[in-house]
Amino acid sequence: MRVAESELRALIAKKLERAGLTPEHADIVADVLAYADARGIHSHGAMRTEYYVERIVKGGMNTKPDFRLERTGPSSGIFHGDNASGHVAASAAMREAIAMAGESGIAVVGVRKMAHSGALAYFTEQAASAGFIAISMCQSDPMAVPFGGADVYYGTNPIAFAAPGANDEMISFDMATTVQAWGNILDAQSRNGEIPDDWAVDEKGSPTTDPNAVTALVPVGGPKGYGLAMMVDVLAGILLGLPFGKHVSSMYRSMHSGRDLGQLHIVIDPGVFTDPKEFGRNISRTRRELNDITPAPGFERVLAPGQDKEDIRARYEVDGIDLADSVYDYLVSDEVNRDTYEEDAPAG
Ligand code: NAI
Repeated sequence: MRVAESELRALIAKKLERAGLTPEHADIVADVLAYADARGIHSHGAMRTEYYVERIVKGGMNTKPDFRLERTGPSSGIFHGDNASGHVAASAAMREAIAMAGESGIAVVGVRKMAHSGALAYFTEQAASAGFIAISMCQSDPMAVPFGGADVYYGTNPIAFAAPGANDEMISFDMATTVQAWGNILDAQSRNGEIPDDWAVDEKGSPTTDPNAVTALVPVGGPKGYGLAMMVDVLAGILLGLPFGKHVSSMYRSMHSGRDLGQLHIVIDPGVFTDPKEFGRNISRTRRELNDITPAPGFERVLAPGQDKEDIRARYEVDGIDLADSVYDYLVSDEVNRDTYEEDAPAG
């Protein structure tokens, strides 16, 4: 199914509004989800609408949050997310962090208590578009086995980074600390596809290619991804006084209560370290130098980290976004909450 980004955004917003989000919040969530699909990040795109709808309808996402920035120092703050949509809370907190970094050169803002916030590059790119460097990271449901372990402990705990280049260019990199995000398992399920055998394990802890048999993910790069997941959990969880590790709430359980998730934004004004124009030129130069590297056998071209998403976006702008039929069918249907996600379904 091919769909234009504007149509997709409108369909998602309409569905979320019907579920009970305010038009303003529905538009923000739809913007983040359409942003993801438009870059091929289908794991965190429109596919999630049905799940958000169910959580909204069941009361597990606050549709009338009382957002509050608590300044904790000249360059730091806690943004109280009041268990609203993570997309709305994290983007509002990023706006606060950008303003703070504009004043003091650097800002560290933790989002305390929010629901799932989706593709993190959306938030770091908010900062890069305004001329700032940003790092963002968040907690997610426990669903990965620790290196050498058979039981889950950490989530897919993603980290995103973006930096502004010259002439509206940027570098934007965004990764789960597991080999794959859980959403890619869901995407494979919705497309009835198989997954590579190094993404995840089944209930016995054995590698599986069947997305329906997956019970846990594995950290990327063994102990290294495992260590990064720990770092994210410390900074976006323990530091903000939130549940951490295996105590983080699960996406598909307790749909009636808030998720209490944490996210941390770090925003830096390049101008406090160097000439910001030179910084931007050098970011763009890095991109070009990486692109000029001789490709290894089997590769057509070397891309800067994250550049693959820009290429997908350019293709989708011409051809339309490649959306799973089942996702589109739900969006255009009259149905709102289908009660699809059982309380004891696997975490995501
Ligand atoms: P991925 O594996 O598709 O890509 C990871 C990074 O590598 C991206 O920046 C991508 O652009 C880059 N990349 C991939 N191929 C490349 C190539 N050939 N050349 C240069 N760069 C390349 O992403 P992953 O780990 O599956 O994460 C997907 C999304 O899921 C992210 O947006 C992440 O924030 C989101 N996520 C959100 C969670 C949440 O709870 N909010 C949890 C986990 C993931």
